[in-house]
Amino acid sequence: MPQQFDMRDPASRAAGLAAAVAELRAGGLVGIPTETVYGLAADASNAIAVARVFEVKGRPQFNPLIVHAASIDAARALTELSAEALALAAAFWPGPLTIVAPLRPRSGLADLVTAGLQTVAVRVPAHPVARELITAFGGAVAAPSANRSGHVSPTTARHVSDDLGDALAVILDAGPTAVGVESTIVTFGPDDRPLLLRAGGIPRGALEGVVGTLGEASNVGSRPQAPGMLASHYAPAVPLRIAATTLKPGESLLAFGPVLAGAEGGRGVFNLSATGDVREAAANLFRGLRELEAFGAPIAAMEVPDIGLGEAINDRLRRAAAPRS
Ligand code: TXA
Ligand code: MG
Repeated sequence: MPQQFDMRDPASRAAGLAAAVAELRAGGLVGIPTETVYGLAADASNAIAVARVFEVKGRPQFNPLIVHAASIDAARALTELSAEALALAAAFWPGPLTIVAPLRPRSGLADLVTAGLQTVAVRVPAHPVARELITAFGGAVAAPSANRSGHVSPTTARHVSDDLGDALAVILDAGPTAVGVESTIVTFGPDDRPLLLRAGGIPRGALEGVVGTLGEASNVGSRPQAPGMLASHYAPAVPLRIAATTLKPGESLLAFGPVLAGAEGGRGVFNLSATGDVREAAANLFRGLRELEAFGAPIAAMEVPDIGLGEAINDRLRRAAAPRS
């Protein structure tokens, strides 16, 4: 079983950081909190460590990882950020924004991090534990979400140990993550047009306030721009249907706002936000899916408005509802 450190307790925080840095230096993997979801962290310059990430997650090798840097300057050492990209970085870093941009030659990153692409996905996370760890480690950290590939993303240390406990020596526990959905991923197309690759923790409207209207990645060509965006990602182990307006017998309910009539007959009820607040719903989404999954019954998910973080929530729910490949 992994050693788990409570990072909210000052005494274990120092020990946790030291253990995590030692583990990263030794080519091992560490479960770390970020403001979005928990990450499975590895030394981004160590090809063997990065290979272990793919192995442990059971992730297809063509799926590149997000590199986490301690500062904008550290990010710029890895990637060439255009003026537009820098404007986004200045506005939203540290925070739940990932920018995909050209990889710098001699970035020092293992090829496996970018899956051989000439671009790299970079973000500067806002979570104080993630930042302290990256700073103390002194290098870039590759970190996908710390779940088995295709399963629901982890928003607590418990989710990490449930999915990957056997493969991890160290997990840093900082409590439930604040944002609850992964970072928004943006890139720039021909003519420096900003493109949304993945809806996430920074709402579209906030980004558009800085760089203007975002294009859709699907308009750029037939090749998926974010290869991880497979339709059946983020799936719980039970069937899920979206935009439910009634509850069928035996179904669990993922509610938003006032719960549907008949919910007491369901196997389980989890309300993302009783008051209909999309930010609260995002923070609760993956925990709700995991809790309902444990009932073993099919899940009926109520409609969430496509406003603010609602876009990221609906993206994840559609993927969770897609036919399994
Ligand atoms: O919030 C987050 O972003 C979390 C936390 C841990 O930071 N990380 C995360 O990483 O969600 P991951 O590996 O689960 O998702 C990475 C996404 C995938 O969809 C991948 O295909 C895309 O980023 N990606 C990475 N590099 C890319 C590239 N060069 N071009 C296009 N997409 C890329
Ligand atoms: Mg993931």
